[in-house]
Amino acid sequence: MLELIGEWMVVSDPPAHTRLRRLAAGAFKGQRISAMGEQITALVDELVEAFTGGDLISEIAYPLPATVIAMMLGAPVADRDRFREWSDELALVAFGAGGDARAERHERALRGLREMDAYFRELIALRRREPGEDMLTALMAADGDPAAGDRLSDDELVSMCALLLFAGHETTTNSIANATLALLRHPDQLARLRADPELIAPAVEELLRFDGPIKVLNRWVVAETEIRGRRISPGERVHLVLASANRDPEKFADPDTLDLARRPNPQIAFGKGIHACIGAQLARMETRIAVARIVERLPGLALAAEPRWKPSLASRSLEQLRVEVTR
Ligand code: HEM
Repeated sequence: MLELIGEWMVVSDPPAHTRLRRLAAGAFKGQRISAMGEQITALVDELVEAFTGGDLISEIAYPLPATVIAMMLGAPVADRDRFREWSDELALVAFGAGGDARAERHERALRGLREMDAYFRELIALRRREPGEDMLTALMAADGDPAAGDRLSDDELVSMCALLLFAGHETTTNSIANATLALLRHPDQLARLRADPELIAPAVEELLRFDGPIKVLNRWVVAETEIRGRRISPGERVHLVLASANRDPEKFADPDTLDLARRPNPQIAFGKGIHACIGAQLARMETRIAVARIVERLPGLALAAEPRWKPSLASRSLEQLRVEVTR
């Protein structure tokens, strides 16, 4: 597991990070992501149309992102459910969430990751023989960097696929679910969005600021540093609390107020600096399409039960989001 996760750009420093990020950049080109809009809308419509109330996470927010990643990587439709299982298994290790005993959790994760590893290797072999229009083919060709002749090895491609699945799944699920909950708890803002669907882009920025999917990032300190009178020293680990930065009264007027039209909105739910989220454009698009459709197509949407948050330090994640709708 460490071999797989240890290769991830998100836990690498330069120069390894610089190289991995450069080789992945082509796969995340603006046009490539924009071109996904129609397919994502069709997927969201399917999920929203079928929803008659119940847990909005298991029925809409959870299936969507893994399906989108499977689709982007060019995996056959029939295999998409497996992507969700693998993503859960990766989360068991990487986030350490859930009540399972540690050994059992690792056992389950390892089984899943072995299966995922074999699957991605087969898919890579297939795309080497038959290149497609998908993101995996773009990653292989290192679209971002045609001149240098550097390419990702098969091991690196497997690790990259796993990272994209992991980084893009639970985060996007939570972004959709937390946004929906915040709207339900602020009926004035929900009504405002219903009345003015054009507001969706700034609304999603504000919803990410207000209750974003990642609360905390970790860093090791490498140099003696002083921040607001506190010294931190090499070897220490610090928690960077994005959730707190996003409610900083020096940056945001009335930070605890949800204002869908807030401007400016320098929220940092996608991080900052060299590791800032490479999938932000995709995540924004998925969240905008999903939240817009939920608001538009689910009349009478109301909370059916008081939701509970999962006991996780890093991720801001609901157990369930039970709602009623009137069709
Ligand atoms: C709303 C959804 C999302 C949120 C809130 C989010 C948030 C973040 C944050 C905060 C980081 C920085 C991590 C750090 O500095 O340690 C990050 C990095 C990353 N994200 Fe996202 N993310 C989301 C969706 C996605 C999607 C959809 C993908 C891809 C399919 C993705 C891929 C990545 C990758 C590969 C990195 C590592 C970048 C690097 O290390 O240079 N994310 N994300």
